[in-house]
Amino acid sequence: MSSIDIAKAVKIAEGVHWIGFYDEKAGFHCNPYLLIDGDEAILFDPGSVQDFPCVLSKVCQLVDFKQITHIIVTHQDPDLCGAIPRFEELIYGVGGSCKIVTSTRASFLISYYGVISDFYCVDQNDWSLTLRSGRELKFTSTPFMHFPGAFVTYDPETKILFSGDIFGAFSFTWELYANEHYIEAMKAFLENYLPSNKIVRYAMAQIEKRDIRMIAPQHGSVINKDIQKHIDALKGIECGIDLEEE
Ligand SMILES: [Fe+2]
Ligand SMILES: [Fe+2]
Repeated sequence: MSSIDIAKAVKIAEGVHWIGFYDEKAGFHCNPYLLIDGDEAILFDPGSVQDFPCVLSKVCQLVDFKQITHIIVTHQDPDLCGAIPRFEELIYGVGGSCKIVTSTRASFLISYYGVISDFYCVDQNDWSLTLRSGRELKFTSTPFMHFPGAFVTYDPETKILFSGDIFGAFSFTWELYANEHYIEAMKAFLENYLPSNKIVRYAMAQIEKRDIRMIAPQHGSVINKDIQKHIDALKGIECGIDLEEE
């Protein structure tokens, strides 16, 4: 970990970069990612207004704004959508354009951030997005995890699952890559944000159909080993309504 300079963008796989800001005080920092495919760049869950200067500086290290053609957001929360209008300003300011990739349900709410781009709704596009190169990103519906229209993105080329809040964690000690304490930190966050074990099990059954090498969540750490162990841990989680007293 000490050899990783988190003040800069960190390459986590070929063409995929962590571009987040480690907020030491928050315990709940956010992880935007940038996928670069030829002359095209895709932003995943770009982050909050507070994190924008740091995320922006990392994007600038990697691409020109004109290259950003899609912003993928798993749901409507401000910790991942707040920065969308700011990125749009820069992208359109240099003559570029982009699409906001999300679910139809999330799009209704995301429009209230004042976004100017068209939406590309995954549920209306066969749960898939084909880039200019022919590379295809695959989406999987994970309803109520934690938003009704939530989904995850799978990149078959790198075998990364961009999981949004799912597999996220809350902890005041953070490392870019998940360590042996990560399952604990994941539970500390998700038991309060996910609605019930039944809903988690449905999502895990969909997710484990993919051949996953790495999980890139929007909070917490990147999981680059023991993937099945982390999936199994979530299958057993008691959360939301499970923890309510009768
Ligand atoms: Fe969220
Ligand atoms: Fe989040």
